[in-house]
Amino acid sequence: MNETAVFDAVYEDSVRQPERFWSEAAAGIDWDTPPELTLDDSRAPFYRWFTGGKLNTCYNAVDRHVEGGRADQLALIYDSPVTDTVCTFTYQQLRDAVATFAGALATQGVGRGDRVIIYLPMVPEAVISMLACARIGAIHSVVFGGFAANELATRIDDATPKVVVSASCGIEPGRLVAYKPLLDDAIEQATHKPARCIILQRPELTAELTERDLAWDDAIAGVQPAECVPVEATDPLYILYTSGTTGQPKGVVRDNGGHAVALKWSMHNVYGVEPGEVFWAASDVGWVVGHSYIVYAPLLHGCTTVLYEGKPVGTPDAGAFWRVIAQHNVSTMFTAPTAFRAIRQQDPGGDHIARHDLSGFRTLFLAGERCDPETLRWAQQQLKVPVIDHWWQTETGWPIAANCLGIQQLPVVAGSPTRAVPGWDLHVLDDRGQELPPGETGALVVKLPMPPGSTPTLWNADERFRQTYLDTFPGYYQTADAGYIDHNGYVFVMARTDDIINVAGHRLSTGAMEEVLAEHPDVAECAVIGVADDLKGQVPVGLLVLKAGTDRPHDDITAEAVRLVRDRIGAVAAFKSAIVVGRLPKTRSGKILRGTMRKIADNDAYRTPAAIDDPEILNEISQALRGAGFAG
Ligand code: COA
Ligand code: AMP
Repeated sequence: MNETAVFDAVYEDSVRQPERFWSEAAAGIDWDTPPELTLDDSRAPFYRWFTGGKLNTCYNAVDRHVEGGRADQLALIYDSPVTDTVCTFTYQQLRDAVATFAGALATQGVGRGDRVIIYLPMVPEAVISMLACARIGAIHSVVFGGFAANELATRIDDATPKVVVSASCGIEPGRLVAYKPLLDDAIEQATHKPARCIILQRPELTAELTERDLAWDDAIAGVQPAECVPVEATDPLYILYTSGTTGQPKGVVRDNGGHAVALKWSMHNVYGVEPGEVFWAASDVGWVVGHSYIVYAPLLHGCTTVLYEGKPVGTPDAGAFWRVIAQHNVSTMFTAPTAFRAIRQQDPGGDHIARHDLSGFRTLFLAGERCDPETLRWAQQQLKVPVIDHWWQTETGWPIAANCLGIQQLPVVAGSPTRAVPGWDLHVLDDRGQELPPGETGALVVKLPMPPGSTPTLWNADERFRQTYLDTFPGYYQTADAGYIDHNGYVFVMARTDDIINVAGHRLSTGAMEEVLAEHPDVAECAVIGVADDLKGQVPVGLLVLKAGTDRPHDDITAEAVRLVRDRIGAVAAFKSAIVVGRLPKTRSGKILRGTMRKIADNDAYRTPAAIDDPEILNEISQALRGAGFAG
């Protein structure tokens, strides 16, 4: 038997007989009404899973474990070095907290199908709010705390929430982030006005409340706990906004049924984790990784999940992650390569690792950005456990390519997230939609239907969903990643084909930053490119062409540009450098040569002046980049 036979058989089965495959996986979930149809293709290319089925995601994530013997097992460990707190919730305690907050939401008039925006730092109330929405059939939309008021306003207008749940502050190294003024500003900017804001008052900074606001403690005082409401499998569980192609964020929708089935299935099959074990995704609930692997998947599987409020380094030192793993007996961890680059920079010899008992630690998973082989090797050497790169997107909700440890562990190949995961019929196509042979780079696409858990559409934007993802290659979902599959079926994800850059594992649209820069009164035109960065993978750099006759000091203008992006998009954009250039590289017809600029920014091509025709322009831009300290 060859060394991949077990995996091959499961994979083949999943793509040949997806309905049988996923109807078997659906047995891992408790249904109030079993599905009538496993795969509903009546509105293809909009596919739906488990039509006719009714379930409650919160019941599956919490209540059923209480009823099934895990009442006293820890469900959630909140570990917050920034507030010097560790607190825990058993499944029973989590159920009670969720039911109470669900009651509070219901008291505020929130019911099935209503939207609730959650703008919270990494505190247990974020998890409780998400599950409370799921409990009463409301749709949550979590907004990452590093986004500015303007981004929050856009999401408020698109999701039109009845209630916003927020906090007085978040805690970043060396500073408190006052959330309440950001929220007030966002509501001021938004056309839609939520009826109520529920505010968690944190002791580090108290917010002033207005008539629209209600303190969390007052919201839950004396309320009747709410029971789980069965919803359709195809009803939305949440909307998560993500960047792409224009400044207008896309509301990725997740359904209840497919999501619960796929995530539960992934815990054993992809991550090799069993119920009762401690699983830690060191991400943020504002990102898809946080939704799927801090909150839903570990709880659906009956694991203990860790919610960590802090950074990998500096809280208090480069040993922060190892302390958490040892203290809470984490078996499996998931984070972005950038976190490991940060640790490696501060502790290259792994001295901090040696100080902790990591004997219970089994596997490290990395995702969110390309994993550079150096980081992979360092992590392998230091931790002496398998380090598994895996590839996925907000839209897919769970991994498209991974080393599926629960099925059959395959050899790790540096630079590859291993093989397409069962359910994902992955192909590589050229510009004309022709299948490319192994080893040739093209568009990475997934043959429809995508498996359960993947986004069925965008919020209120079926047509945008079709145009963005389905029209370019009919019959396929376009991932907007380019790459290749080698002779052994190993997937290599090389670059985005759109305007997305990946900064510290955070997905950002350069188009959105350009829209902001273009508003500066002295800017005639501009472009934002991702420049290779040793820590964050990429960082954005703005190239500004000034209006004729502008004679203000360039330093003033670039400083204003940096401030503008921070104010409008948020600190998370990590936009720290803008430079004035004479002109942008363009075609004869005036189209900006984005590919050329990307090549300049890309580490290797950057040193290859042949990448551009006009040496003068190249010189101008590379000088400017050099001036900004990005010349390598
Ligand atoms: N609320 C408010 N501000 C936030 C924030 C939040 N939740 N998260 C980040 N920010 C701010 C940071 O404070 C920083 O502000 P600054 O410009 O004043 O320094 C800015 O946004 C950029 O943040 P980031 O890019 O994360 O840089 P960093 O220096 O704070 O941290 C890493 C760098 C590598 C340590 C950090 O990005 C990290 O741990 N990343 C890996 C894990 C991860 O979250 N991956 C995402 C998906 S898996
Ligand atoms: P997000 O939607 O924020 O999860 O970002 C998804 C994008 O991050 C993907 O489309 C890829 O460009 C990139 N990405 C995520 N994981 C990987 C990985 N393992 N290897 C390469 N790129 C990745």
